[in-house]
Amino acid sequence: MTPVDLCAVAHDAARDVGPAADRTGLDLELSLPPTPVAVPGSHESLRRLFVILLENAVRYTPPGGSIRLAVSPVQPGADSVSIEILDTGPGISAEDLPRVFDRFYRGSAAREVAPDGAGLGLSIAKTIVERHGGRLSVSTAASGRGCHVHVVLPQPC
Ligand SMILES: Nc1ncnc2c1ncn2[C@@H]1O[C@H](COP(=O)(O)OP(=O)(O)OP(=O)(O)O)[C@@H](O)[C@H]1O
Ligand SMILES: [Mg+2]
Repeated sequence: MTPVDLCAVAHDAARDVGPAADRTGLDLELSLPPTPVAVPGSHESLRRLFVILLENAVRYTPPGGSIRLAVSPVQPGADSVSIEILDTGPGISAEDLPRVFDRFYRGSAAREVAPDGAGLGLSIAKTIVERHGGRLSVSTAASGRGCHVHVVLPQPC
């Protein structure tokens, strides 16, 4: 575990998924603070985490939609940092929500949109977050549309 700048991780992950977002006409926006947000961790694991979450947003958001990845600035005295990924897709149904972290679980709508998925992305994402001592949650945005993924990682350094 070495200090990793989450802003640099976000740029790398956005570069990885950018071509796929472009192909479906999705607007991928990064909302990052001007100064680095460092946490102890593995750059490559955190990049994989961000890519998994952004790939889901790209896959399940209809053409012409938008995706936002936001890293919050470090608040004075705070012991954690917050990362959010929001999209304008259908969100996750109440029926699917309790099971999306199960290995091989796929929502019924997801199976129609993308038959080739494995149902492993979010379980891997959760393992990465937990190895970094953090928390991962998903919900459907308050507006009733759009997936909202929230990652909290401890100990900004
Ligand atoms: N951004 C999202 N919008 C809507 N549904 C989502 C989103 N992200 C995840 N889901 C739901 O959660 C399920 C589990 O996601 P997960 O990433 O684990 O698997 P997957 O995307 O189906 O397959 P893969 O292993 O290829 O990533 C999806 O099948 C889908 O139902
Ligand atoms: Mg996935």
